[in-house]
Amino acid sequence: MTTTVQQSEGAGTPEADVLLDVRGLKVHFPIKKGVIFDRTIGHVYAVDGIDLQIRRGETYGLVGESGCGKSTLGRAILQLEPPTAGEVVFDGTDLASLKGEQLRRQRRHMQMVFQDPLGSLDPRQTVEQLLLEGMRAHGLTKDAQVARTRLTELLSAVGLPKNALSKYPHEFSGGQRQRVGIARALSVDPQLIVADEPVSALDVSVQAQVINLLEDLQEEFGLTYLVIAHDLAVVRHISDRIGVMYLGGLVEEAEGEDLYDEPLHPYTRALLSAVPVPDPVIEDSREQILLPGDLPSPANPPSGCRFHTRCPWRQPTRCQEERPELRVVQVDGVPASHRVACHWAEQIASGELGRHTVEVDDVTHPDEIHPEIDSSLGAKGVTDASA
Ligand SMILES: Nc1ncnc2c1ncn2[C@@H]1O[C@H](COP(=O)(O)OP(=O)(O)OP(=O)(O)O)[C@@H](O)[C@H]1O
Ligand code: SF4
Ligand SMILES: [Mg+2]
Repeated sequence: MTTTVQQSEGAGTPEADVLLDVRGLKVHFPIKKGVIFDRTIGHVYAVDGIDLQIRRGETYGLVGESGCGKSTLGRAILQLEPPTAGEVVFDGTDLASLKGEQLRRQRRHMQMVFQDPLGSLDPRQTVEQLLLEGMRAHGLTKDAQVARTRLTELLSAVGLPKNALSKYPHEFSGGQRQRVGIARALSVDPQLIVADEPVSALDVSVQAQVINLLEDLQEEFGLTYLVIAHDLAVVRHISDRIGVMYLGGLVEEAEGEDLYDEPLHPYTRALLSAVPVPDPVIEDSREQILLPGDLPSPANPPSGCRFHTRCPWRQPTRCQEERPELRVVQVDGVPASHRVACHWAEQIASGELGRHTVEVDDVTHPDEIHPEIDSSLGAKGVTDASA
């Protein structure tokens, strides 16, 4: 039995046609220790309470620095990672209610494009075999002639020559391989594509071609995208709306240009202040916000606002004690679609609160809580500690 859930308000406007509705999503990875008895000594809070709605046909860009949980969120949406808590409702169906064959069938509608096409394509399979594999799994190859036509259409849609079918992944350039990866995702006629860093492994000259291809395909096939990137420029170009992630949570969400015109969260301000401006005069006078310290370990996230250990606007004691919710702010000219997780967003926007120096003093080291965890592992290395 599938559970049909009423589509909720969200995605900026109450009447929005929401395809994907994520509520309170958490993915916590256990950190295990011990040779004989696996003892759980802590958790990596990779995704820690995310609400996110994506409208049918839109492109939602997700940005944040390495290790903040972007890929884990993408994988949890596709149920490739079992959520610890929360729900993912896709086109009115709560995915947690699907098991086995039902979930497998549902997967046809939600596909992933990966950062590293070479790593994600089986090197022993030709493009034809790669494309047919997914189609076969979803019963789309029963009529050989129809399947053949579909393969030709797919190649033409992603701009690859017909003779590509008999080639192996290593015979292509990086950009062409990503086209194969996109064709494979398209082969089962999905509604949603989660593209995880789709161009970051490509040369800059090829990146724009692949981004343009994704845009053309969206128009042609009515696709909905979740595009994950650490590069703000990539996301700006392609996204209708953008979400900024920090340590497992969304800290800001807005329509594309609104975010760049008026970033309201201190973390987004810092991220955008680091993006070079082509005009040399503006570039020289531009104020850069340098954040102290590194991203704290998601195995030991700071209390209260996760950003308080690095935030130049932090205030005692609320920032350390209370985790801010993603909320609509009361700032002139800022629409309700622009939401921010900061207690002091209004005061920061008005200039009532100014920046101050932040000492990296109150970051509790992971080994103070879990002495067993090798403190040198950092945010990304905790995975290895669980081995
Ligand atoms: N299977 C796993 N087991 C344990 N920890 C994991 C696992 N997968 C990811 N993590 C940890 O969860 C955190 C978030 O990882 P994730 O890959 O989602 O980040 P990301 O934002 O995609 O980073 P990047 O930009 O480098 O791809 C990291 O600290 C990572 O080490
Ligand atoms: S809630 Fe406090 S610490 Fe967090 S971003 Fe806002 S001012 Fe900074
Ligand atoms: Mg990632």
